[in-house]
Amino acid sequence: MIDSLKHLNWRYAVKKFDATKQLSENKLTILKEAFNLTATSYGLQPIKMLVIKDQDLKNKLVKSSYGQQQVADASHILVLCVETVIDEAYINMYFNLVKKLRNTPETITDPFKNSLIKSFSEKDKASVIKWATNQAYLALGNLLTICAVEEIDACPMEGFIASEYNETLNLKEKGLEAVLVLPVGYRASDDLFATLAKVRKPIEDSIIEL
Ligand SMILES: Cc1cc2nc3c(=O)[nH]c(=O)nc-3n(C[C@H](O)[C@H](O)[C@H](O)COP(=O)(O)O)c2cc1C
Repeated sequence: MIDSLKHLNWRYAVKKFDATKQLSENKLTILKEAFNLTATSYGLQPIKMLVIKDQDLKNKLVKSSYGQQQVADASHILVLCVETVIDEAYINMYFNLVKKLRNTPETITDPFKNSLIKSFSEKDKASVIKWATNQAYLALGNLLTICAVEEIDACPMEGFIASEYNETLNLKEKGLEAVLVLPVGYRASDDLFATLAKVRKPIEDSIIEL
């Protein structure tokens, strides 16, 4: 049995990656599949993940990450993005997938589909992006746990300039916006943060039992 807590204690937000170590294709596949398996509200998956391996691009993104060197030294940078438009066409795409994969008759799915189309048509762009961003955070949590179990190092990051990422990665033309960054790879043997004690509240300050 996997010792879950041992893995969660092993992980930490890596500040210094070993730039000579690369993730295998197998590990990358696990991260991609884990991202895609993330549960999302209504199952609509309003998120997409960029997997960046190109060293020039990683170097360029350091400046847009307030100089955080993890972005250049990690094996790969995962950029979690949100879809900026959830319209009728997008929702239809999801229900076409339900039909294809489950063979559910439209008479069953149409009422739900139509209520979603109506509900999303009444939301403004900012609230759609906020809702989608919540799903991206869920994917981040999922990825951090899977990284821990797979002994892949990672550094969850909000510290980056989204508008610059959007520009550099041509996200607007893909209908996307960057919301989270996750460098992944292997910790450097001299990363100071690896030796520091985990800082967490005493468990009784985090949990309320009734
Ligand atoms: C959403 C989110 C954003 C974060 N942004 C950054 C960041 O930009 N740079 C960084 O070095 N660490 C960042 N962190 C790492 C946190 O500081 C770290 O997870 C926290 O201090 C707990 O420590 P641990 O993850 O090492 O256990 C972020 C963490 C989360 C969950």
